[in-house]
Amino acid sequence: MTDDTATDRLTELAKRRGFFFQSSEAYGGVSGFYVYGPEGATLKENLEDAWRDRFVRREGHMEIEAPNVMPEPVFEASGHLDGFDDMIVECPECGASHRADHIVEDNTDIEEAESIAIDDIEDIIAENDLVCPSCGTDLAGEPVDDFNLMFETNIGPGSSSPGYLRPETAQGIFVEFPRLKEYARGQLPFGVAQVGAAYRNEISPRKGLVRLREFAQAELEHFVDPEADEPDLESVEDVAVTLYSEARQDDDGGEPVEMTVGEAVEEGIVGSAWVGYYLGVAQGWYERIGIDMDRFRFRQHRSGELAHYAADCWDAEADTSPPGADPDWIEITGFAYRGDYDLTKHGEYADDDFTIFKQYDDPITVERATVDPDMSYLGPEFGGDAGAVADALEALAERDRSAFEGDDVTVDVDGEEYTVPVEKTGFAVEEVTEAGEHVTPHVVEPSFGVDRLVYTVLAHSLTQDDAGESEADGDDEERTVLTLPPELAPTTVAVFPLMDKDGLGERAGEIAERLRRAGFEVAEDASGSIGRRYRRQDEVGTPYCVTVDYDTLDDDTVTIRDRDTTAQARVPVDDLPGVVADLRAGETTVGDR
Ligand code: GLY
Repeated sequence: MTDDTATDRLTELAKRRGFFFQSSEAYGGVSGFYVYGPEGATLKENLEDAWRDRFVRREGHMEIEAPNVMPEPVFEASGHLDGFDDMIVECPECGASHRADHIVEDNTDIEEAESIAIDDIEDIIAENDLVCPSCGTDLAGEPVDDFNLMFETNIGPGSSSPGYLRPETAQGIFVEFPRLKEYARGQLPFGVAQVGAAYRNEISPRKGLVRLREFAQAELEHFVDPEADEPDLESVEDVAVTLYSEARQDDDGGEPVEMTVGEAVEEGIVGSAWVGYYLGVAQGWYERIGIDMDRFRFRQHRSGELAHYAADCWDAEADTSPPGADPDWIEITGFAYRGDYDLTKHGEYADDDFTIFKQYDDPITVERATVDPDMSYLGPEFGGDAGAVADALEALAERDRSAFEGDDVTVDVDGEEYTVPVEKTGFAVEEVTEAGEHVTPHVVEPSFGVDRLVYTVLAHSLTQDDAGESEADGDDEERTVLTLPPELAPTTVAVFPLMDKDGLGERAGEIAERLRRAGFEVAEDASGSIGRRYRRQDEVGTPYCVTVDYDTLDDDTVTIRDRDTTAQARVPVDDLPGVVADLRAGETTVGDR
């Protein structure tokens, strides 16, 4: 089977059965915008719930919901206005715009071209005679430019207040840090999560759910004291992970290595114990949601590839190609060590305190150098610069009190030097008692791409059964099965009357209602042969089907059938909600009953 065949099969199934499809198709469709249909919307919601369960509830973190639109100063501070760019090249013939780094990756042996400088990308395009993917025109000599990926809008009428659709949910957390720290009672560490939409105006999105202009993120920003806080590494130290470090990638032909999280942190392969901790936690979660861990790895960002805010980053990558085809690795999560970048930046740009006050066990006495400049001297001497000179004197006193040892002291304000007699500065060294200090927390960020996770789970769970296995269902047709974990399946149980007559349909309806009241997602289907109805549920991943037949009317039992094994068992109707709950929780199997 070719890559395309498998991709096409998933795309066809997704569209036909309502998992996902391109939006606004009636108007020609717009690349990068997708709709989740009825099955897909529930699958995505279940996946997000499973994420919340593991990364918010089990970790004891909080979750917030911030706006999608944020004002421009937020992104000046965060660095997105200046540095959140992709490389664009425009075709001189057809006018189509393309990602220059993707043209290079698709047509040369070069990987991760994103990390290469623009001038070098222009040279590579020329040296390799690379052409426009839309019309084949030679792109040699065409300029490659930076293209900012944020969608701009105006807040209110006019253009005086520009805003942007957030390119990551993370900023909605960082900006609210001054208030969020109050909810954490000023105590580190604490984590704040957000699940929601983010927007990137991708230059030429081509891969369906994998590269969207509007997409969903599940992000956790864990604020820690780098000097004092440590993760519970012991709980994950024996978890085996496949790591593709920067060094391995640089070593020609270097392969990923398997080791435990504990070894990886101890040997410094994963530099931050916090990142190591989340790799271990996430490994277990990926298994839980049905990702095939034989087609999975953690890959470290190369230094040129790191986002502007990240000191180190590991991506969880899944190969979504079918077995045997060329690998197609996609990033499904980034685990970034953002350090104090974001809070420091917002502290500089915003009018609020983005630090935590850390109380000492016992107050300490320290010497503090202060100034109290004589403004009646500085004003006439320096005019409009007097205030800035006073600020510079204060900063210098904190930084280097020896500068005040002579008769004069010199400060630099915007490249200009100002000399002030020390006696006019009010310089003094005092003893003060300090109860604590202000600490800028560091941030560890596991950032999950929800749509890519949905896509990977579907790609890894899509199977084609051979005829033999489905004979138990009473026919020998090949079947398409989504082997979704029951926790994620859009429908947990489907209820079928053997035939829609003699009261079987009504009885099936009552049983379906009872299961709904017990909290399950239930489907009903009375049309076509039972085998055909099983097939319909198999291809949307429904793990259990219940058939109501003539025996049900006599003894109040039904048949329950397992999607993956096609095993069947007879169960009293009264026991059904409990049995389905146990099956879904993995505490029993249909074959065991
Ligand atoms: N917050 C990380 C990212 O959006 O990639």
